[in-house]
Amino acid sequence: MKTRVFSGMQPSGNLHIGNYLGALKNWVRIQHDYECIFCIVDMHAITLPQDPAQLRAKIVEIAALYLAAGIDPQVCSIMVQSAVPAHAELAWMLTCVTPVGWLERMTQYKTKSAKQESVGDGVLQYPVLMAADILLYQAGIVPVGEDQAQHLELTRDVAQRFNSLYGDTFVVPGTSLPAVGARIMGLDDPAQKMSKSTTAAGHAIALLDPVDKIRKTIMRATTDSHPAVDFATAGPGVLNLLSIYQAFSNATDEEMERRFTGLRYGDLKKEVAEMVISHIEPFQERYRQIVSEPGYLAGVLRDGAERVAPIANSTVRVVKERMGLYV
Ligand code: AMP
Ligand code: TRP
Repeated sequence: MKTRVFSGMQPSGNLHIGNYLGALKNWVRIQHDYECIFCIVDMHAITLPQDPAQLRAKIVEIAALYLAAGIDPQVCSIMVQSAVPAHAELAWMLTCVTPVGWLERMTQYKTKSAKQESVGDGVLQYPVLMAADILLYQAGIVPVGEDQAQHLELTRDVAQRFNSLYGDTFVVPGTSLPAVGARIMGLDDPAQKMSKSTTAAGHAIALLDPVDKIRKTIMRATTDSHPAVDFATAGPGVLNLLSIYQAFSNATDEEMERRFTGLRYGDLKKEVAEMVISHIEPFQERYRQIVSEPGYLAGVLRDGAERVAPIANSTVRVVKERMGLYV
């Protein structure tokens, strides 16, 4: 049997090139080598306040973006988390074997809770739901960006704890990070990770941004006080631009050095902008085609949920038996 792969994105905010280079691009690359499930994690999105109508529209948009990136629904299952209730069921059972201390240590929890006066329990439980997503399907590989590495470590800890308490039940999954592009930084501030929730102008390049806006955002990106590229001394802004170019182009380190050493920052930015646009334009064209076919996406999501639900339900049944719940 092929190893199973599971990953997902939240339908909150606009997907950006960090999401693409950190995760989506790799999903496309490995989809034929494994049995893949790609999820739209709407229940994670509601851990922070969402506008209901907007959230529902975003779920479909993300599905269309998965397809536009090249995920083949004939080969992979594409599904919405809330369409398979087993995610919530297993999350509760795992919550009951997870020490609160493990959750309070999560960096993302600390950052998100620091921004709010009253913190919803969902923000704390978030990684347990993520563990449930993965463990439900006995996934062996989880391809994500670097910011999710800590959540995956927690997933492994929860799986191991459950296995030692109740006997071998879960596959302990591995993390798969891309070699280049695992952490794309904000173009306005290379000290901050590019983030869907940051709406400042000049911060992110959304996958559906108009080409002019993309060019402008890259040309205005923060660099440093040197005039031209020197790989030994380049600051984080320049390194970020180089990573973006390298991740889109798949160039080797040697090719990058040969091409960019000594190039003035203005010219570097032009090259980066053209590289990004050359990938995003056909991507946007596919996106428009996909959303113009009425009923197509709903069908893909229905098929995906129908395909994965039996796997998820059988895991929940085993967990219930092991824990002594009524089956
Ligand atoms: P999220 O936007 O939190 O739903 O993330 C979806 C996927 O994109 C996850 O695998 C993240 O690790 C990845 N991701 C998010 N932001 C970035 C970034 N700035 N650079 C690289 N990967 C990212
Ligand atoms: N927490 C992930 C993020 O924000 C999204 C996610 C939820 C996920 N469940 C998952 C990713 C399971 C991989 C596997 O990026």
